[in-house]
Amino acid sequence: MQEPPKSIDQTIVLLEQENYVCGRDLGTVAFLSMALGKPLFLEGEAGVGKTEIAKAMAAALGRRLIRLQCYEGLDAATAIYEWNFAGQMIAIRTAEAIGNRDREALQTELYSDAYLIRRPLLEALEPDENGPPVLLIDEVDRTDEPFEAFLLELLSDFQVTIPEIGTVKAAEPPIVILTSNRTREVHDALKRRCLYHWVNYPEFERELEILQKRVPEATHSLSAEIVAFVHGLRQQDLFKSPGVAESIDWARCLVALNAVALSPDVITDTMGALLKYQDDIARIAGSETTRILNETKARLASAEA
Ligand SMILES: Nc1ncnc2c1ncn2[C@@H]1O[C@H](COP(=O)(O)OP(=O)(O)O)[C@@H](O)[C@H]1O
Ligand SMILES: [Mg+2]
Repeated sequence: MQEPPKSIDQTIVLLEQENYVCGRDLGTVAFLSMALGKPLFLEGEAGVGKTEIAKAMAAALGRRLIRLQCYEGLDAATAIYEWNFAGQMIAIRTAEAIGNRDREALQTELYSDAYLIRRPLLEALEPDENGPPVLLIDEVDRTDEPFEAFLLELLSDFQVTIPEIGTVKAAEPPIVILTSNRTREVHDALKRRCLYHWVNYPEFERELEILQKRVPEATHSLSAEIVAFVHGLRQQDLFKSPGVAESIDWARCLVALNAVALSPDVITDTMGALLKYQDDIARIAGSETTRILNETKARLASAEA
């Protein structure tokens, strides 16, 4: 079993090995979360690397990644456990057919492990030979308040009570990462259980490093132009600014088109990789693209000088 990192530096290096570029601020909370056994609550715009850090951490530690994707209407049956109703019905019919009249034995069997369907939150309490898993509770802002209350309970004592069976408690708590895209405020009580970190868009150097790791086919100068242009876009008043995921997609598009440098034409043709709302595309189209591009090139030239 691989032990969690012993320092902030080690945390950053481990994540780096999984191609995750981690700043000191995020590295610090990630390390503390593991050291203190406290869930990590990451909030930020879409595409800034919140989900990815959980994947990288699981891979780096050789732990199982258990992901609970949240959505409106997510309930305990889907998140924790449910009974295999169809299986139970078949067992009842079979008992009837063979004339088994021992009700008590049947009852016990129907609510035994064999008919229990484990969902992510229950699975996360049960360790395997690689140690406690990494539990990713992704986009928690999409669920509703009753579900948050469930989570609160789970995250305070890492146990779940199944009335028919008893209480399942994690011998060693999982490493927990919650993410939110902040489409609404998540309740204070839930945040208070966690270490909180706002994940910002990366600064220029770090985003360039991410691009070079993720799209090594793109030349250094093209990648620098991409990052500078995207940073220019993020200054604009857009409905949805491009995240790191979009920079990566865009770089891949440009490489596929054999573009060696940005030009207004190539930007216009590939804008759909960066902006996903027609209003945003319309706002940036034409002279605005040229203006941001000129600013981008000027900024890069002055950085080089
Ligand atoms: N710090 C980073 N290091 C490496 N890749 C990153 C980083 N941040 C984001 N990415 C890339 O951007 C993509 C989107 O990140 P993701 O974690 O899905 O965003 P979020 O969950 O915040 O919406 C990932 O697939 C990953 O390739
Ligand atoms: Mg995500």
